[in-house]
Amino acid sequence: MATIGIFFGTDTGKTRKIAKLIQQKLGEAAASPVNINRTDLATFLSYPVLVLGTPTLGDGQLPGLEAGCESESWGEFMAQLAGTSLSGKTVALFGLGDQVGYPDNFVSGMRPLYDTLKNCGAQVVGLWPKEGYTFNASQALEADKFVGLVIDQDNQYDLTDERIDAWLESLKPAIL
Ligand SMILES: Cc1cc2nc3c(=O)[nH]c(=O)nc-3n(C[C@H](O)[C@H](O)[C@H](O)COP(=O)(O)O)c2cc1C
Repeated sequence: MATIGIFFGTDTGKTRKIAKLIQQKLGEAAASPVNINRTDLATFLSYPVLVLGTPTLGDGQLPGLEAGCESESWGEFMAQLAGTSLSGKTVALFGLGDQVGYPDNFVSGMRPLYDTLKNCGAQVVGLWPKEGYTFNASQALEADKFVGLVIDQDNQYDLTDERIDAWLESLKPAIL
């Protein structure tokens, strides 16, 4: 049975595509990616390892009704998750953003995800260097690193594959 659950939120589908790429690269250890608005808490909690992806929408927000999306997403799921114990779980995050269009809030949506998961007791792995991106500010930095892999399909899609490979290589000891 797959021990890694991959869940994503998305508005226009780019984060789904990256989730699928990550699953292909992880192979049978990882289950097929599922949109976070198509699962429930029990399924989410059934995996010891979680790989979670989100775009940043609105003004540095998680996707969901509050960010102007048509469907529920991470915003609503995070509200459900608050107060749940994630102790013993290992979680890695990946975030999509647009450093040219939103340089003052680049991938900031990863921050509420990270904070909620940490507050629930999860061990968050897979921090990622900020070098290689041009932006003014991001809420997703922790001790000078991003809280997860950062993908910019709008401006740097040509770097995506090698970024995923390098991130997964660094993660493997913690998640496989
Ligand atoms: C309305 C809107 C608001 C956005 N706000 C941000 C933002 O604050 N920060 C950021 O880095 N990217 C922002 N983006 C860029 C998206 O995060 C980026 O295009 C992402 O790849 C979309 O992923 P998706 O197709 O999975 O929804 C925004 C995009 C839209 C359409």
